[in-house]
Amino acid sequence: MSGQLNGKVAIITGSSRGIGRAIALELAEMGASIVLNGRDAGRLAETEALIRQHHNRVISVCCDVSLKEGGKELIDRTLEAFQQIDILINNVGVSMRGIVADVSPDVFKTVFDSNVLGTINPTIPALPYLRETKGSVVFISSLAGIRGLPLLSAYGASKMALRGIAESIRIEEAKHGIHVGLIYVAMTEISHNKEAIGADGSMVVLDSRNGRNVQSTKSVAKAVVRNIKRRKFISTLTRLGKLNAFLQARFPGLVERIILMNIKKFEEGSK
Ligand SMILES: NC(=O)c1ccc[n+]([C@@H]2O[C@H](COP(=O)([O-])OP(=O)(O)OC[C@H]3O[C@@H](n4cnc5c(N)ncnc54)[C@H](OP(=O)(O)O)[C@@H]3O)[C@@H](O)[C@H]2O)c1
Repeated sequence: MSGQLNGKVAIITGSSRGIGRAIALELAEMGASIVLNGRDAGRLAETEALIRQHHNRVISVCCDVSLKEGGKELIDRTLEAFQQIDILINNVGVSMRGIVADVSPDVFKTVFDSNVLGTINPTIPALPYLRETKGSVVFISSLAGIRGLPLLSAYGASKMALRGIAESIRIEEAKHGIHVGLIYVAMTEISHNKEAIGADGSMVVLDSRNGRNVQSTKSVAKAVVRNIKRRKFISTLTRLGKLNAFLQARFPGLVERIILMNIKKFEEGSK
């Protein structure tokens, strides 16, 4: 795998930790020049040091992609440093917790700013450059983007919106040869103080997660790379995820009954 992406330039939004960091490391190992992004300079510096163990073709752009100016800054700084864009991974995303009856409408706004505008803000200025390289734009979604789940309404709705955006770009850019990928990620390990938005809008730290039913960030990163190499549209991760997508498409009523029977597990799993 090493060297397969020599000469390519990859931007990964939200790559100072978690899944984004794992994707950046995987792409760096394969030789791609890397553009890291996040809002915290310290976390970005730590990740940049890890990338430099592979090579020195890396920059960090500390900006908020939920803002239009942040998306533009990310693309401008990439072009200044590397003059081209081959891969844009829209990974930034924040989750939330709470039943709709309890959730403040502001939570919906914050989640959509991050998860929907946070992907569109860098994608729009990147598209002309992705046309030049016939590159890839990849959206990181979630199994919660396949059907609405309890306690995750705003999060699931924002991830469903990514499908609409990805399908439009796929058709609009077909003549320019741009690859569009959409990754439905399953429950993934948490090894840092990952936060989600509570019903009242305050941030809550999630319990750390690992074990049998949890994917590693590295396995998610490898799936993203496979999606790009094969220029696939949709990749649904884990066997459970694939089963979920299959059943939801054909027997949505059955899926709803299964969820209702397992509601306690959902409440536990969302901590
Ligand atoms: N973890 C899971 O179980 C899971 C499952 C399904 C799908 N996903 C999806 O996978 C993606 C990554 O999740 P994760 O678990 O790795 O999240 P995470 O651990 O919370 O990491 C998010 C990353 O994005 C950065 N970030 C957040 N908001 C940003 C913004 N507005 N502008 C720039 N950077 C921003 C964060 O750094 P700063 O806070 O320093 O900015 C951090 O580097 C998300 O789209 C998520 O929805 C995750």
